[in-house]
Amino acid sequence: MKNTKDIQNLKSQNSSKPYIKRFIERLKQNKKSQLKINFIDREVIYPLILLSLLISLLLHDYKRGFLAFLGSTILVFILLHFFYRDLKRYKPTYLKKKKSLLLLSSLLILNLVVAKVFEHLFYIFSKGMGIENPIIHYFGIPLAIGAVIVVMVFDFHTAIIFSLVLSLMIGIWIKISLFPLYVFITCLIAAFALFRVKKRSDIMNASFYIVLLTFISSLSILSITGAFNIESVYFLLVFSLTNGFFVSALCFSFLPALEKFFKIATPLSLIELLDIEHPLLKHLSVEAPGTYHHSMIVGSLAESAAEVVGVNPLLAKVASYYHDIGKVRMPEYFIENQTGCISRHEKLSPHLSSMIIISHVKDGVELAEEYNLPEIIKDIIQQHHGTSLVTYFYQKALKEQEIPPSEIDYRYPGPKPQTKLAALIMLADAVEASARTLDDPTPARISNLIDKIVKNIFNDGQLDECEITLKDLIEIKKRFEHVLTGIFHRRIPYPEIKREEKKVGSFS
Ligand SMILES: [Fe+2]
Ligand SMILES: [Fe+2]
Repeated sequence: MKNTKDIQNLKSQNSSKPYIKRFIERLKQNKKSQLKINFIDREVIYPLILLSLLISLLLHDYKRGFLAFLGSTILVFILLHFFYRDLKRYKPTYLKKKKSLLLLSSLLILNLVVAKVFEHLFYIFSKGMGIENPIIHYFGIPLAIGAVIVVMVFDFHTAIIFSLVLSLMIGIWIKISLFPLYVFITCLIAAFALFRVKKRSDIMNASFYIVLLTFISSLSILSITGAFNIESVYFLLVFSLTNGFFVSALCFSFLPALEKFFKIATPLSLIELLDIEHPLLKHLSVEAPGTYHHSMIVGSLAESAAEVVGVNPLLAKVASYYHDIGKVRMPEYFIENQTGCISRHEKLSPHLSSMIIISHVKDGVELAEEYNLPEIIKDIIQQHHGTSLVTYFYQKALKEQEIPPSEIDYRYPGPKPQTKLAALIMLADAVEASARTLDDPTPARISNLIDKIVKNIFNDGQLDECEITLKDLIEIKKRFEHVLTGIFHRRIPYPEIKREEKKVGSFS
């Protein structure tokens, strides 16, 4: 009874307070920081303001006053903040490294500087040629250069958001109502054309599509705006050709410098790393043929599963080829390279053996630095075992030693996989290493083994720090099963052969 009275008193007290007072009280109860974080990200506010000012300086029409500059700075800030929030929501791994944000910001500025320079040149050219249409020269500007580099270095999602933000920014500069739409379409065409570039000639082929589709879309824009005439068609074709040519030419010119400066991997550098004549791979194949063969199969596994989980297959393959490169320093201590019956570990203590095994990660990172491998490959080398346990030698130590050994001494130093790609390589590596030990690799046994390994890695918490989902794991398992069944195909006895075997008494 007393409780009901209390509730009634409280209700009457609350209802007597004016609504605004109650609202203010509720606001006070919330932490100030929480409110601010929901509205704006404080950690990036100053870099974003600085970048907005820089971009506004590029976009600003200097005939207009300070108010116009302030207006464009605010709009640019909103667009940049939207870009940042999108990355935070959908691509959080890029935010872990400031380098990625710096590269994206640099690409935005580079794209706008290139656009400004070419606009000026084409303006002089069109004046010289006596072109009457005042907007036609804009269609020659190679605006897709940023989107092309973003799709090659980052991914398609980031390229789309980059294109959207860039095209809206261009709208602040070139005040033709449909021009941002044209820019967005051009960038999308370029991003689509170069989404899965595998060789240098792919960029040239993509330029052809950029020319063709840029020409069609610019014609459409002119038709909609009513600026269409026969003379325009001729000049549009010239400007579209120039546009396509400069997109690929600038891409070839900027990529090597960006690769060096930001230590990033582009499809062009990845293709070079796949070459078996690369000194590190050559060294691995001679010094540690078992590891080399293992790395090739890990490459097939990772590549097959990459696309379905949103990882670049080319990058997955290259990362697999180099993940165990550290084993070249002491190849004979790793089981896949042991040829004789006597193991090198026989005379060593379990702790020393585990230290040798674990050291291949550190050695790999050192070699990656020495041979200037991209940062992303170095990360994979470092993370491909996470903080997992060297089980064999830990169990051996448990059996041999009176005092139970510390588990930490037998674990890899980590870090755990930070990206989906690192997790994929970890799974492919573990699955390949275990599949080799299968005596009778039937599809059912392969499937059970993959299931067991994925579960063990998951339960050990190795996948806790990356954004891999359970759905991804199911897809990865399916792909691994498919590839491994294919690899072990010859070793799986067919029913007919089995019958033969019974008759003859042998099978080979
Ligand atoms: Fe390894
Ligand atoms: Fe490995």
